[in-house]
Amino acid sequence: MSLRDALRIPLREITDEAVYRERRHLVAALMAAPALGITGCSRAEAPPPPGKPLDPTRLKAGFGTREERTTFQDASTYNNFYEFGTGKADPSRAPKTLRTSPWTVAVGGACAKPGRVSLDDLLRGQKPEERVYRLRCVEGWSMVIPWLGVPLGEVLKRFQPSSKAKYVAFTTLNDRKQMPGQSYPSLDWPYREGLRIDEAMHPLTLLATGMYGKALPQQNGAPLRLVVPWKYGFKSIKSIVAITFTEKRPLTSWNEMASDEYGFFSNVNPAVDHPRWSQKTERRIAGTGSKLFADRIPTRAFNGYGDQVASLYAGMDLRKWY
Ligand code: MTE
Repeated sequence: MSLRDALRIPLREITDEAVYRERRHLVAALMAAPALGITGCSRAEAPPPPGKPLDPTRLKAGFGTREERTTFQDASTYNNFYEFGTGKADPSRAPKTLRTSPWTVAVGGACAKPGRVSLDDLLRGQKPEERVYRLRCVEGWSMVIPWLGVPLGEVLKRFQPSSKAKYVAFTTLNDRKQMPGQSYPSLDWPYREGLRIDEAMHPLTLLATGMYGKALPQQNGAPLRLVVPWKYGFKSIKSIVAITFTEKRPLTSWNEMASDEYGFFSNVNPAVDHPRWSQKTERRIAGTGSKLFADRIPTRAFNGYGDQVASLYAGMDLRKWY
């Protein structure tokens, strides 16, 4: 396999250990050889957030949609959660090995009040609310799901992030007994994600604890996960055990795996193709009739949440910062 081919395996096909190892090798080689000029998203810092206030009416319009909802059945049986297998049906079929209670989250880094907090403490005083969000996967399918959760920013504020907190890093549980998929090197465990601080504080960013009025099923990221609706689905990290405020941009699993395919920002953008496929359209998992996928529809910039979030990226070249 050539160097370029090894770097261009779509997310759904990364199952084979030999391929995985070869790719990691090549990624390391690329990092050591910038002269090759295939560096993808550079490690340089993105421009600072513009910090424009949001219009409340526009903001609220992002909290719901009248679009047809995906059924609970489809949303809970067609999943990406590599800790429980790389096939779409694997996570829902996996034995229920995840112990979600008690659950603690370590919150630390650049903040005045770090600590290990139980899930109850983390959510204390915050009543979960329902938000019906679209989530669009980098692979080209999308769902419309009624989530239950609290705005992440409201929770983060309690830990009093300092002026050095420019980013927020998130980590999934790392335990092969509870997450048998971690016995395979399909990813460099634990799964990690990150957001710029203004993205994390944005009112649309949800710390979800449930969907369809119930607690999150194991396969959807129990007991708590992110939902960042204007970004490709992989930014919505599941089963979070650590949240860290950082000054430097944190490493994230897919970006580390193949930075030219999965950028740090990963805002849904039909104008920027994935290196191996177009991002112009998507297939909605609508859940009606016997077909899993509805007909193709155009993908919208920021997954249709541009009114709420485009100002976060004012002045940024979104081709460069993909
Ligand atoms: N979080 C962890 N820990 N592990 C994963 O494999 N997959 C991501 C994201 N969060 C993933 C994860 C990807 S690729 C997508 S598209 C969404 O979860 C899918 O969420 P869903 O299964 O609830 O639709």
